[in-house]
Amino acid sequence: MKIVCRCQDVTEEEVVAALRQGATTIDEIKRLVRAGMGPCQGRTCRRLVSQIIARELKEPMAQVFPPTFRPPNRPVPFKLVMAEYERQEADERKKAAKAKGGKK
Ligand code: FES
Repeated sequence: MKIVCRCQDVTEEEVVAALRQGATTIDEIKRLVRAGMGPCQGRTCRRLVSQIIARELKEPMAQVFPPTFRPPNRPVPFKLVMAEYERQEADERKKAAKAKGGKK
């Protein structure tokens, strides 16, 4: 048993089984066995999964499409959201006051 994705404890056998079910891309492997869905978002396992796909499908690595990337989501404290909102409100008030003062 060879672990391919340390974050999700996905083995090489699971990736190969997913390929035999019909998966042909990293995204399909990801959906079937969750390889690449861990905290590192595939930084560690993406290349290994690509190598397994290339080997099993007998294609060059260049033919294996890279997965889709999404920006990392992190929780943001609500006070930061409110601080930004208040800052924008203050800027708009300043602009409005400046425009009002400039017309006179
Ligand atoms: S090792 Fe696969 S998601 Fe981190």
